Amino acid sequence: MAQRLMLVSLLLPLLALLGSSPVEAAKKNKAGLWHSEYNKLTGRSSRNASPEFCVVVRTYWGHGRSGDGGLRRLLRSLQRQSVQSWEAVLLVLDSRPFEDLHHIVEEFQDDRIWVFAEWIDKQFTPKQGVEWAPGYHGTLYNLTDDAIQVCPPTTKWLVVTNGDNEYADNFMQLVRGVGPGADLVAVDFYSRFQRPTAPSCERFAAAPGLPACKRNRLRWCHTDLGANVIAYPRFVQENRRFGALADVSGGLGAEHFDGIMMQLLMASSWKVQHLHDTCPFNHAPSLQSCGWGGGVWDDRDIVSWATAGGRCISREEADSVLREDEEAEEVTVAASNDGNVTAYEGVKPEQMAVPCLRKKAYMSDGVLGVAVEWFNALCVDDVDLPAFREWQQLVDPAGAAAEAAALGGEGGDDAATAGTGELAARAAAIAAEAAARREAAGGEHEPEDFWALQAGFYQEEVPAGTAHQQQEQGDLAAAEQAAAQAVHQEEQQLEQQHHQRHEE
Ligand SMILES: *[C@@H]1O[C@H](CO)[C@@H](O)[C@H](O)[C@H]1NC(C)=O
Ligand SMILES: *[C@@H]1O[C@H](CO)[C@@H](O)[C@H](O)[C@H]1NC(C)=O
Repeated sequence: MAQRLMLVSLLLPLLALLGSSPVEAAKKNKAGLWHSEYNKLTGRSSRNASPEFCVVVRTYWGHGRSGDGGLRRLLRSLQRQSVQSWEAVLLVLDSRPFEDLHHIVEEFQDDRIWVFAEWIDKQFTPKQGVEWAPGYHGTLYNLTDDAIQVCPPTTKWLVVTNGDNEYADNFMQLVRGVGPGADLVAVDFYSRFQRPTAPSCERFAAAPGLPACKRNRLRWCHTDLGANVIAYPRFVQENRRFGALADVSGGLGAEHFDGIMMQLLMASSWKVQHLHDTCPFNHAPSLQSCGWGGGVWDDRDIVSWATAGGRCISREEADSVLREDEEAEEVTVAASNDGNVTAYEGVKPEQMAVPCLRKKAYMSDGVLGVAVEWFNALCVDDVDLPAFREWQQLVDPAGAAAEAAALGGEGGDDAATAGTGELAARAAAIAAEAAARREAAGGEHEPEDFWALQAGFYQEEVPAGTAHQQQEQGDLAAAEQAAAQAVHQEEQQLEQQHHQRHEE
């Protein structure tokens, strides 16, 4: 409670200053005034009054000593940037205090890093069991929106991220390099959700024709908060707030607001520069960062709440899994990466052989099938879409037909059929209705809601003709084969090593 009160007393003058300061004060040197007020409130003596990047960091105790220690890694990754003009604004919302937060901040001895808010209260419990507590993400986004408001007024680029993520050393340099006129810079990124409907472990393997990391398509299920760099002046001028997206979220929880925000910005003609197959952002945990951190990736179950997307474990833990879980096997993945383009803490992830655990029956309905169903059509990477379609046709022809009908703008009634096609069908049907309404209203352009926003995306990803589809399938088959080849059974390797030694 004391911490909350401290925050409120810190916030009010700042917000009053930013929001409703007298016009005369604003007319004077606003940045300078803000600067001195900031120093007064935080007790700091100096601050770069005009950093180019403002990084809003959402963190909690789990990123500290009693968790994965991710916050130190993130802050180091900021300090290592080749562009040094940034400020990091930290915030915490949780029921458990982040005890070493202030030690961490002190340890860095960097005036650019400061704690904006630390809200600790029972009502801010993030999880109920393994699921998100209702309201948690909404409140977190509202606090995030407030933190965004206190970025220095001169901020050019806004990055909103979580305290366990990590940036390549040249991240800000790459953003600065896109040239003038961009409102949004999107980077591809390492993520546990890379090709979630492809076979376990293989989904991370490098092969020609497959993505270097998770493709950032600025779409729900295909993006992440920390992978998008936002033009701050336009964002603030348009009064954009993550916490206000409930009206257009079509019933999706606030944890999905990052993707929805990006889709809305795109729908409002924000100019996007996409750095394709460049992976200067690591959304932790990912197989790749697990590999360069010396861990073992556990890809046995990527759909349950507890391990959604997979997890990174220690060698010791992996060994005990292999002893206890008879269905598990270990393989080595030659992990996809962007080669020599980006470096994390000075290390370029060029050739990554990452140990990976999976179910021996990883191609079965009970493993791959469950993942395909869980992640649904809107989450499929485009290289996996033909395979997804085929699977859908096999297990749920009714859903597939309803979806096809909805995409054709007919038979919207069937769109609610339960099954694989449900989500995409619903999106397509609602989008078709919205398009009809817009047309009736004289073609006025205005995004209706989340579901309407899916339509263009979804249609553009569906291969038009069979010839096209076959072509894609051919390419994919080759890529998949290469990916499977890039995955070695640990046993085979050991055997080879044994033979080699024998021959020597
Ligand atoms: C977040 O703020 C908006 C107003 O911008 C409000 O409507 C909403 O209820 C708030 N969400 C939560 C969970 O407090
Ligand atoms: C990556 O390597 C290629 C070939 O060795 C080189 O041409 C290119 O300049 C390198 N790119 C970067 C960003 O280092």
